[in-house]
Amino acid sequence: MTPSHSLLLFLSCTLFVHQCQGACAEVDSDTEAVAGRGFKLGCISCKRRSEVKAAATVEWYFQADGEVDFVQIYTYEDGAPTESEHFKGRLDWNGTKRSRDIQDASIYLLNVTFNDSGTYHCFFNRILSFDNYEYTTTISKLVRLTVVAKATRGTASIASEVMMYVSIIGLQVWLLIEMIYCYRKISAAGEEALREAANAEYLAIASESKDNCAGVQVGE
Ligand SMILES: *[C@@H]1O[C@H](CO)[C@@H](O)[C@H](O)[C@H]1NC(C)=O
Ligand SMILES: *[C@@H]1O[C@H](CO)[C@@H](O)[C@H](O)[C@H]1NC(C)=O
Ligand SMILES: *[C@@H]1O[C@H](CO)[C@@H](O)[C@H](O)[C@H]1NC(C)=O
Repeated sequence: MTPSHSLLLFLSCTLFVHQCQGACAEVDSDTEAVAGRGFKLGCISCKRRSEVKAAATVEWYFQADGEVDFVQIYTYEDGAPTESEHFKGRLDWNGTKRSRDIQDASIYLLNVTFNDSGTYHCFFNRILSFDNYEYTTTISKLVRLTVVAKATRGTASIASEVMMYVSIIGLQVWLLIEMIYCYRKISAAGEEALREAANAEYLAIASESKDNCAGVQVGE
């Protein structure tokens, strides 16, 4: 490979990080699903060292609200999913595709019901392949899912929206008051100026005529 080729490869790698090494970010799953809609149960575990070869299998467990036991609901191994009876065809793979090096193990739950509320556990069984040995790790993540009839919004977001409107309206009103105040001040100042100008003119005329008068007087 010539230097210019490696430069090109480097540039395209920095531009298209996804293709080259699969940039991974551990984003927490959403925790509120709407009944009747679909919901993505997120579960991401990034490798610390992206250059190390790895293969992972994934297991999902579910504990319904009020239940004690976890039941296995989904397994993903060698690109093939295995579903248990519990969700009867309502689960789809939303994680890493076309690779055994799974870092995203998210699954998609179709037609959410209120009975789907509970705790979901996802497990990565990952084998890291180093030059001379293999290393096995297990990583687990937890998703506490609440099912609601309609999407609710946090009170904080509602409060901040109200505050936004209050401050916008407040600003407008303040601006209006300021404008009226300024207009009045300007027009008052204008009148004052006019009056002053008239006065000055009057005084000038008056003093002129006085001079005239004085002149007349002196002349006499
Ligand atoms: C989800 O609900 C829709 C509409 O109610 C239905 O047509 C579909 O078969 C359901 N899918 C599953 C997997 O239950
Ligand atoms: C997840 O799976 C659902 C159902 O198969 C699909 O509609 C959705 O587009 C998928 N999302 C992603 C990000 O793969
Ligand atoms: C939810 O669970 C209860 C009790 O197990 C069951 O009677 C009911 O049919 C379930 N509802 C749905 C929508 O699956």
